Amino acid sequence: MNPSTLENHAQVFHEIADSRRSVRKFLDEAIPEDVVRACLEEALLAPNSSNLQTWYFRWVRSAGPRKELARACMGQNAAKTASDLIVITVRPHVWRQHCDWNLAHYPVDPAPKIVGTYYRKLAKMLYAIGPFGVLSPVKRLAFALIGLRQPMIRGLYSVADRRVWAVKSAALASENLMLAFSAHGYDTCPMEGFDKVLVHRQLNIPHSEEIVMIVAAGRRAPEGVYHESYRIPLDELLEKF
Ligand SMILES: Cc1cc2nc3c(=O)[nH]c(=O)nc-3n(C[C@H](O)[C@H](O)[C@H](O)COP(=O)(O)O)c2cc1C
Repeated sequence: MNPSTLENHAQVFHEIADSRRSVRKFLDEAIPEDVVRACLEEALLAPNSSNLQTWYFRWVRSAGPRKELARACMGQNAAKTASDLIVITVRPHVWRQHCDWNLAHYPVDPAPKIVGTYYRKLAKMLYAIGPFGVLSPVKRLAFALIGLRQPMIRGLYSVADRRVWAVKSAALASENLMLAFSAHGYDTCPMEGFDKVLVHRQLNIPHSEEIVMIVAAGRRAPEGVYHESYRIPLDELLEKF
């Protein structure tokens, strides 16, 4: 890519990142369905651990379910006025099935040997924890012993570890989704202020899934942003080595 195109990209990216704000009030205007779909497709382009794509999206658009979900979002303005609500969850347990999916869909057929070894053997060692995490102590000990001699990945020992692992990738997809809406001229508000029991019940979300966040999307109302953006200065949050 030539440098002037790159400079232009950097400027466009800055404008998108800078204009993305948490909007708490949207206009009474529906986002075209194809725009929402395009943003969801762009969410899927987020980096994700081992390409295992344990994320899942529920798109709540119809007025009835939206109203009910807004109630579960504690009646927050962003949820009540949104054109669309996207519930992002993780399904950590699909990791094994998605190892097979990666092998079946690898863009080169046959997949390189190293890819086969990764999804057939290595990933299974990294992500397996056994039923109710029974493998956890064995894994912890084995990884610690290997770690005495060489650098070794630590972690992914328990159900909780695997949940955190999956949530990281889904959070990146959520950010991609929000930036995509901004790029399309719409706005969003990420929300964790919701009653998860109600949301699980309303959308029939199995208990094996964890809700990461709910993203409200719509057209920003003039009074939709409550204050200017402010952040702790970078130098207070940065160490350089
Ligand atoms: C995981 C997460 C959960 C959030 N939950 C809520 C929420 O429930 N309600 C809300 O109004 N804002 C929520 N926010 C928005 C934050 O308050 C907001 O991002 C922060 O104050 C910075 O403002 P900005 O997004 O406009 O830059 C959430 C943000 C994140 C990342």
